[in-house]
Amino acid sequence: MRKNLVVAIDGYSSCGKSTLAKALAKKLGFIYIDSGAMYRAVTLYFLRNHTDMSNHDAIMDALQHIELNFHSRDYESHITLNGEEVSEEIRKMPVSENVSEVSAIKEVRTEMVRQQQRMGKSKNIVMDGRDIGTTVFADAQVKFFMTADPKIRAERRFKELQSKGDTETSLEDVFENLAHRDYADTTRKESPLVRAEDAIILDNTDITQEEQLEFALHKVTPHLPHQ
Ligand code: DC
Repeated sequence: MRKNLVVAIDGYSSCGKSTLAKALAKKLGFIYIDSGAMYRAVTLYFLRNHTDMSNHDAIMDALQHIELNFHSRDYESHITLNGEEVSEEIRKMPVSENVSEVSAIKEVRTEMVRQQQRMGKSKNIVMDGRDIGTTVFADAQVKFFMTADPKIRAERRFKELQSKGDTETSLEDVFENLAHRDYADTTRKESPLVRAEDAIILDNTDITQEEQLEFALHKVTPHLPHQ
């Protein structure tokens, strides 16, 4: 039995996983780890270096040259790729359009899962992604599976992109990208997105962020030490 507490949050793209994960980590004093940012940073490296994604040796070589680190500032997670802060660049469309392909590569997943398991070995963490409760931490004490109406999800991500100054991406582009990623994430061969049997479903189409946090805290609190 693990001594540290792991909260796993999985679910579809843009349904508020990171917002809830951050709020929960902050409230509990846990470390927040955004596993999607790791796949995005690897994608950015592959794009920049024109890595041949169908070539095993090229992938293995690239993975050896990638160093990812998280720096947490006020529970906003910042990721560096070989020392360079890439948190903003990995949210842009070129990465979003290629990350499904990269995250379906077996070699990439094996390496990311290894790094994620190391990060959650001894500390209390909240980690969000697609395979956290099924593969990375199948023994997590608390698991959530998040979902929301696809239209609402696209609107939320669209607003987020706009607030960051992206005026080129339309709502339709975002909707299509999400639909494509949902399909790719749920049908890929390697660790597809599925709900762990013991995951608690959280549909946030019609509930506020505060209500989600309250719901999640209620589920996590019994697992905290000395309760
Ligand atoms: O959470 P996100 O949208 O930033 O994730 C980006 C992509 O990475 C997503 O399309 C699927 C993939 N991903 C994954 O395969 N496994 C994870 N644990 C996290 C993300």
